[in-house]
Amino acid sequence: MKEKRDLHPPFGRSLSARLLVLTIFFVMVIEVAVFTPSIARFRERYLEERIATGHLAILALDASSDHMISEALAMELLDHAGAYAIVQMGPGPVNRMLSLEKPPKADAVVDLRTSNFLDLITEAFITLSQNENRILRVRGYSPKGEGALIELNLDETPMREAMYGYSWRVLGLSIAIAMGTACLVYFTLQWLMVAPMRRLSESMIAFQEDPENVARIIKPGNRGDEIGMAERELAAMQTDLHAALGQKARLAALGGAMAKVNHDLRNLLTTASLLIEMLSESVDENVRKVTPRLFETIDRAVDLCRHTLDFARDEGPKLRPEHFELRGLIGDCFESLKLETDGEFKVAWENKVDDGQMLYADREQLFRVITNLGRNAAEAGATNVQVSAQGGGDACHIMLADNGPGLPERAQESLYQPFKGSVRAGGTGLGLAIVREIMRAHGGDVELKETGGKGTLFCLVFPAPPEVKAA
Ligand SMILES: Nc1ncnc2c1ncn2[C@@H]1O[C@H](COP(=O)(O)OP(=O)(O)OP(=O)(O)O)[C@@H](O)[C@H]1O
Ligand SMILES: [Mg+2]
Repeated sequence: MKEKRDLHPPFGRSLSARLLVLTIFFVMVIEVAVFTPSIARFRERYLEERIATGHLAILALDASSDHMISEALAMELLDHAGAYAIVQMGPGPVNRMLSLEKPPKADAVVDLRTSNFLDLITEAFITLSQNENRILRVRGYSPKGEGALIELNLDETPMREAMYGYSWRVLGLSIAIAMGTACLVYFTLQWLMVAPMRRLSESMIAFQEDPENVARIIKPGNRGDEIGMAERELAAMQTDLHAALGQKARLAALGGAMAKVNHDLRNLLTTASLLIEMLSESVDENVRKVTPRLFETIDRAVDLCRHTLDFARDEGPKLRPEHFELRGLIGDCFESLKLETDGEFKVAWENKVDDGQMLYADREQLFRVITNLGRNAAEAGATNVQVSAQGGGDACHIMLADNGPGLPERAQESLYQPFKGSVRAGGTGLGLAIVREIMRAHGGDVELKETGGKGTLFCLVFPAPPEVKAA
């Protein structure tokens, strides 16, 4: 019993799982690409807000008449602005300063006026990578007042923490988006592709197990997409195959019956030939006159039986390939054809194959091929038949050219089709079909290159022998 095939690949190897992982990966890549400028923008905004708050704090100096405030208030204002010192320069001659008595020294300067996009990104990552607090001197125009240039001294850590908080939020959101998108892609793919594809494979397996059962042919849905097309094509293919199998079974039964009839018919014909031999010794001259024609007719009938039997042996020719000299084989074929056609046809057989040219093929089967083609040419009325060959170790082409009248149209229409191609009285229509069968069994083919009033040219194509292919 056949093992039942599993159509569910392991999760990790399934199409949808791969797409799931890829979707998560791509969404994360896009999120990183978006995160980079947005973290830089976050930091810039943070610093701008600090500048605005610092500006507001320093404006408190204007509330007192002498621009002086108590130390406690100064501390409170600085604390509110998150800075150690705030300096306002401009607009115009305005200059204000609010500072601890001894503000710490700045470790780095950030000038928002001159920082471009790339600087902002680089500085954002420098901030994120710090382990210890740095004192930053931040300079920039206040968003609260035109031309007010504010400079602050402040700790970097609170900003870094805010940036980390922002990053974690973005990461969480990215993971949620990636997972959500991937799940949607996964289920859509399952629904749109994987399930219909599984249905296709199941139908293929079911049909393969019992191709004669018409119920196993897939019933295509009415989808207009590629899967729908594949379903319809599969249904058409299965229907054709089902019909071809039915026809083959009927032909096989017919062939079997015919083979038996043929076999007995051949025996009967052999007995008839023996009886005719006795007639050739008859005293009646008229009887003696018709006996050669009777012989001929019976010979043809025996030939027909033999050909039909050969063809009915369904498996095709069994090949015993060998290396042999081609010129010798063509010579043998011509000898046999001369004997066969002696007296009946006047054909000049020309062997143009070079001495020493070798071929790797089944010699006996090739003998059948050449004699069939040669006999056809002679029977069609050719007076000259030439055989030549091209190619050495590589693929070989054997050309058989005659100067006959060319293939009749009906023969060309049913070329190589058994029992259909014959136009000749007494022809079976198997010769060319057998030629093609033998050539294809060799992995080659027969091609009708030219045919017409000036003659016919058949080409036999042989593939390269195994050792040449391997080389
Ligand atoms: N070289 C040729 N020149 C002209 N006609 C040809 C030639 N070869 C084949 N034919 C035509 O093609 C037909 C089919 O050839 P094929 O050998 O298949 O059958 P057949 O010769 O009629 O019968 P069989 O060979 O089985 O006895 C022939 O009847 C003939 O009309
Ligand atoms: Mg023939």
